[in-house]
Amino acid sequence: MAERPFIVGNWKMNGTRSMLSEARAIDRASQRLMKVEVALAPPYTLIHAVHKEVEQIGVGAQDCHPAEGTAHTGDVSAAMVLDAGAKFVILGHSERRQGHGEDDSMVKSKAASAIAAGLRIIICCGESEAVRDAGEEESFVLGQIRASLPDDLDNAAATLTIAYEPIWAIGTGKTPSAENVGAMHRAIRALLVQLYGEEHGAAVRILYGGSVKPDNALELLGADEVGGALVGGASLTAESFLGIVLAAAELPE
Ligand code: 13P
Repeated sequence: MAERPFIVGNWKMNGTRSMLSEARAIDRASQRLMKVEVALAPPYTLIHAVHKEVEQIGVGAQDCHPAEGTAHTGDVSAAMVLDAGAKFVILGHSERRQGHGEDDSMVKSKAASAIAAGLRIIICCGESEAVRDAGEEESFVLGQIRASLPDDLDNAAATLTIAYEPIWAIGTGKTPSAENVGAMHRAIRALLVQLYGEEHGAAVRILYGGSVKPDNALELLGADEVGGALVGGASLTAESFLGIVLAAAELPE
C-alpha cells in the first residue's frame, strides 16, 4: 500500500452539535492509531465546530460550489469551507449526482475550483445496479473518473483521492465481493497510472465505500488496491467508526 490507509466518515445530512462528542471520541482514539489517517466530513454547519474540537483527525466538506463567490444563495464555495477548517472536499457523490443532477462536467469544475482554493479532493464514482447487471460497470466507472477529473493536476498523489462507491451498495447492507472490489480498483489504478504516470498514479489512494461496517472492514480493506474506506452510516458513532479504523490498523503495512 502506497500510504497509510485513509478512513473517511461521511456524515451526510446528519449531525447537530450534540454529535461533537462523537467527533471528539473518534479524535482521541485516533491519536493512538497513527498507522491510519482518519477524517470526518460533517455537514457544512458543523465543519468549524468539528475542526475546533479535534487535534488529530482531518476535517472535510461534502461538496462545494464551483464558483468563487458572490450571488449564489444557499451555496458554499471552496474558499469558504477551507476557511471553516476543511482540508478536503468530497465531490461527485452519487447522492449529489442523483439528487442534484450533477454530471461529470459539474464535478470537474468543482474539482478545479477546490484545488485552486487549496483543498484536497475526493472524487466519487460508482455504478448503479442496472449498469452492473449489464456487465458495464468497469467502462462506466472509468468513464466517470476520466470526465470528472480536472485537466491539469500538478501533484495528483498529494491532491487526489478516488472513492469507488457502487450505488447499489450504499446504505443497503450489500457489498461487492472482495474479488469484485479488487478488480475494479485494479482497473482504476491502471487508469490513474496512464493519466499521471507510474509514480503519481500509483500513489493516489482509492477508497472503497458502500456498507462498510466493523465486521466487513478487514475483508474489504484487504482487497487489491484498496487504500481506505469512505463510510456513511457506520461513521455516525465513535463505536462503529472506530471499529473500522481498528480494522485498518490491523492491515499489514
Ligand atoms: P454507507 O456506508 O451508509 O453505505 O454509505 C456509503 C457512502 O455513501 C459514503 O459516502
